[in-house]
Amino acid sequence: MATAGKVIKCKAAVAWEPNKPLVMEEVEVAPPQANEVRIKIVVTAVCHTDLYQLFDNTHEDGFPTVLGHEAAGIVESVGPGVTEYQPGDKVIPLFIAQCRECRFCKSPRTNQCEKAWLGQQDSRFTCKGKTLVQFVGTSTFSEYTVVNQMAVAKIDPAAPLDKVCLLGCGICTGYGAAVNTAKVEPGSTCAVFGLGAVGLAAVMGCKDAGAKRIIAVDINPEKSEKAKVFGATDFVNPKDHSKPISQVLADMTDGGVDFSLECVGNVGVMRNALESCVVGWGVSVIVGWTDLEDFSARPLQLMAGRTWKGSVFGGYKGRDSVPQMVKAYLDKKVKVDEFITHNMTFDHINDAIELMKHGKCIRTVLSVSPQ
Ligand SMILES: NC(=O)c1ccc[n+]([C@@H]2O[C@H](COP(=O)([O-])OP(=O)(O)OC[C@H]3O[C@@H](n4cnc5c(N)ncnc54)[C@H](O)[C@@H]3O)[C@@H](O)[C@H]2O)c1
Ligand SMILES: [Zn+2]
Ligand SMILES: [Zn+2]
Repeated sequence: MATAGKVIKCKAAVAWEPNKPLVMEEVEVAPPQANEVRIKIVVTAVCHTDLYQLFDNTHEDGFPTVLGHEAAGIVESVGPGVTEYQPGDKVIPLFIAQCRECRFCKSPRTNQCEKAWLGQQDSRFTCKGKTLVQFVGTSTFSEYTVVNQMAVAKIDPAAPLDKVCLLGCGICTGYGAAVNTAKVEPGSTCAVFGLGAVGLAAVMGCKDAGAKRIIAVDINPEKSEKAKVFGATDFVNPKDHSKPISQVLADMTDGGVDFSLECVGNVGVMRNALESCVVGWGVSVIVGWTDLEDFSARPLQLMAGRTWKGSVFGGYKGRDSVPQMVKAYLDKKVKVDEFITHNMTFDHINDAIELMKHGKCIRTVLSVSPQ
């Protein structure tokens, strides 16, 4: 490899400050250090968590930064101590690491590895003399990135990167929230709030788990048709009703749903989702991302037998599960193509962000480097 061991100068979309368009810059990406892997990003998608970081979580410590965490690429070079990955491997970077050694990795009950948030790692990115923060350790809005080997999933070389990149976040997050976290049961009734890629994947998970009724809830009526593609049986727009949405769902289901999933990232909707569950056994899962506000609910909601829980990345241990999800896609057991509404080149990244901001896409896949 001509570039191994050398600094690579390449294009990256830099977020210099919150609430501003990303700027395409030439950046320097340092060689991988011990236990690190440098990846040529072939494709990246945009997830709402990138928008959250740019527009909502505007703490200055987070900037300047290179966002992006839903991507696929090819290993360019590896640092000392890396044996599992080699140049040329097809990989998906992981925003939540799996060290395979800590007590959490050894437990089948969680994906919350002690090293989960490698975003704290030293950055390998510089631009115009400044260090750029590596967002959640991945920073895939760049032609090259450096990731700890604990946060890399090696996938089937037959996998089309421009599709399976979505398994790096949104699809696994929603699907796993239904099958791993909620543990949706056959014959049950479910409600999914928010029908972006995460919510639609949750709908798909509910269907695959055998739910008989799946009520898709969104304030954007354009999401209705897409929800049916993934298995939704009903669509409800809260804006069409004067009653609270929890009451609307209770009326439709003789008292409330068995499982609800919040895929919006809004503490008010989290409460609605909990209150939409039936007394006795209803389970509500928080999937939407926010760390800016507390949520609230009446204690009686839980005392009456409801369970409130949440998950990150659908509870999946990424190094083990992402390759399996890629295989499930290749075996036509999970849908991926249907989530992609737009394809663009990397230099249109701000257009992709605008589309998501205005609810005009499910996922936009950006081609970053030739394969
Ligand atoms: N837990 C995790 O690991 C994880 C991973 C990825 C994304 N997320 C979060 O999941 C959420 C969804 O991500 P996405 O990429 O699918 O986003 P998206 O923007 O594509 O979809 C969000 C959907 O929610 C709908 N919505 C907004 N307000 C609503 C309301 N009051 N009631 C019902 N629907 C409403 C929007 O119309 C939109 O269709 C975000 O908060 C994101 O940060 C969490
Ligand atoms: Zn994401
Ligand atoms: Zn671990």
